[in-house]
Amino acid sequence: MFYAHITGWGMAVPATTLTNADLEKMVETSDEWIRERTGILERRIAREGEYPADLATRAALQALQVANLSPADLELVICATSSPEHLFPATACLVQDRIGANKAGAFDLSAACSGFIYAVQMAAQSIRSGALRNALVIGTENLSRFVDWNDRNTCILFGDGAGAFVLQASERPGGVLSAVLRSDGSGADLLSVPAGGSRFPASAESVRSGQHFIHMDGREVFRFATRVMAQSTREALQAAGLRVEDVHLIIPHQANYRIIEAAARGLKLPIEKFVVNVQRYGNTSTASIPIAVCEAVQQGQLQAGDKIVLVGFGAGLTWGALTAEWTGPLPAERRVNVRGFVWLARLRSLYRRLVRFIEGILWGRREV
Ligand code: UT7
Repeated sequence: MFYAHITGWGMAVPATTLTNADLEKMVETSDEWIRERTGILERRIAREGEYPADLATRAALQALQVANLSPADLELVICATSSPEHLFPATACLVQDRIGANKAGAFDLSAACSGFIYAVQMAAQSIRSGALRNALVIGTENLSRFVDWNDRNTCILFGDGAGAFVLQASERPGGVLSAVLRSDGSGADLLSVPAGGSRFPASAESVRSGQHFIHMDGREVFRFATRVMAQSTREALQAAGLRVEDVHLIIPHQANYRIIEAAARGLKLPIEKFVVNVQRYGNTSTASIPIAVCEAVQQGQLQAGDKIVLVGFGAGLTWGALTAEWTGPLPAERRVNVRGFVWLARLRSLYRRLVRFIEGILWGRREV
């Protein structure tokens, strides 16, 4: 029997910071309002030319280095994202190429801010079934490019970033213990980017009317979030045969400090049991949970054997919670130099493009 262990983790955020004071100059808002209603002080914004696959690649390489796993040993890359680089190809394929995961399947998973929990559970199920041994799960976002910077209801909330986990099979018990994944499409209209898909393809009118931006009924999403966070945590704990008291740390989706406080009240737990970094990054959607996990590890808050809960919610509506026993890297005999594989990956990618180009000329598919 196989267990799916979290053996590597990594994160990447853009260097540029956007503070509440900066936002005061852009829309009618105040630092005081944003702090009180959301807990957010600043967020990171991708610079021009910096995209979700760039951040994802940085986070993925860190996670692989921590796990001491070569990209060539990966069999699956799942990229959870609400702001993919394209409708297709999948952002996961761009990352797969850059890190040199040449034996991995790759796909994007769309479940909005709950996406990372969904993706970890999909990878864990594949590992537990014996179908594969090594998987990479990423949450990556450039939501700043879907934000209407004139809309104070939304522009104060979101930020950019990426986080990644490596999951590996082991016969040692532990790793991902249980998960509950839920959805309620009757609330689909509460949080959406209405245009750009096949229902409302891009047109002059869709651009003019701002339909490519994030539209949100903040109050309704808030009400929904406060209801499902504690409830799904309890369900996931029950499925794992754990009690709330057994939990060492809860790593919630970082959307609003008040939502995390409500979850703490609902579970009758002190807020110290929750990892909170929303003040520095805002809501980075699928990336918020793995970024928070990375920072918890950096601060020595997580040790092998600790029981943790990841819990989140988002557009769809979707929500979910996942329990795990924290593992850390599996014992290894040799040290893998992940950066070395990246050079190899670049060369391989260039070589494949070149071969395609030359074949195109030889077979008359391309004009010289
Ligand atoms: O990953 C999921 C993503 N989404 C979420 O997590 C969003 C969940 N919702 C929330 O976090 C909160 O609902 C918000 C932070 C979006 C809003 O906070 P709120 O306490 O629910 O405020 P509200 O929408 O009830 O608005 C209260 C007032 C309104 O004015 P009136 O109508 O009472 O005069 C708003 O127009 O605050 C006003 N307001 C603002 N004022 C200053 C809304 N946004 C701002 C702003 N600055 N940025």
